[in-house]
Order: sequence, then C-alpha cells, then structure tokens
Amino acid sequence: NRGEAVIKNFSLIGMPGCGKTTIGKILSQKLGMDFIDLDEFIQLKIGLSISNIFDIYGEKFFRNIESECLKEVLEKEGQIIATGGGIVTVEKNIEILRNRSIVFYIKRNIEDILKNVDLENRPLLRDNKNKIYELYNQRYKLYEKCAHYVVDNKLIDEVVKSIINIIKN
Ligand code: S3P
Repeated sequence: NRGEAVIKNFSLIGMPGCGKTTIGKILSQKLGMDFIDLDEFIQLKIGLSISNIFDIYGEKFFRNIESECLKEVLEKEGQIIATGGGIVTVEKNIEILRNRSIVFYIKRNIEDILKNVDLENRPLLRDNKNKIYELYNQRYKLYEKCAHYVVDNKLIDEVVKSIINIIKN
C-alpha cells in the first residue's frame, strides 16, 4: 500500500434516455476520471452502429458482445461507465457490475424520457417508442437488484451533485 486512494469504477445503469451518457460525461470531467460509453465502445470494436449490429446480427449477438465488452472495460479502474439500458437483462452482467464497480441506477420518469429520447440509434424503440413501457416492466426489478445506489433524475445538476456526494463520502 503506497498510500493512494483506492481508484474504483462507477457504473451508470437505467432505461434508454434516462441520462446515463450525459451524466457520465459531466461526472468524468468533475472527478477527473476516464469516461467510457459502453455502446460507443461496442460500435468501435465491431465497426458498426448499434442499429446496424441489431439489424445484421440480431439482439442475441449484440448481448454477447455487450457482455464481453463490459468484462473488458471493467478490467481497468478509475472509470465512469455509461452502460446500455439492456445490460441488466444478462444475469452475469449484474454480478460483474456489482463486483467491479459502484453501480448507480439513474431513475427517470418514463413520460419525461419519451419527451426527448433520440430514437436514431435505439433499435428496440425505433418502430414504436411506447415499447419502452414493456422494457421498463421487464427491467425495473433488475435495475434495483444491480444498483448499489438509486438516484432520481429530475434535473441533471441535482443528479450529478447527489452522485458526487455519495462518491465523496
Ligand atoms: C438498449 C439500449 C441502448 C443500446 C441498445 C439496447 C436496450 O443503450 O445498448 O440499443 O436494450 O435498452 P441506451 O440505454 O443508451 O439507449
């Protein structure tokens, strides 16, 4: 032990459009930590957009790659990681996330999400954005199970403040 603070990972989970990427970027700036957007990481690795991966190879393939990428990312430390909304649908991801990071569930009202969610690269919602209700019903318990902390996203500044408070304590 050379006296440094323990550098951990902090993961953000929650529904598509709940603010994971936005919040993650702000946190990484404020805390001086690396920011990883897992969807971005996957797109770079495969060389295709998320939508194209779904269209060409299907969801099952995407979930396999997503799990592999999650493991790879979590081998390092000192990162803020914004995950994809479906990360918790694979049981072993929950275990890996909890073991290798402090997990924050960003909880946001579905009506608020629907007001400004970008459907461009969200293949599961592209055809019918109301499918988000079905996804939420399938997932909310998994988000709660995976999370060390649950934070409400009404205002971005407030979520960022409460996460920083938790981290600094
Ligand atoms: C997904 C959410 C997306 C992306 C993929 C699948 C999901 O990430 O990983 O389209 O199953 O909810 P966001 O949560 O950033 O939209």
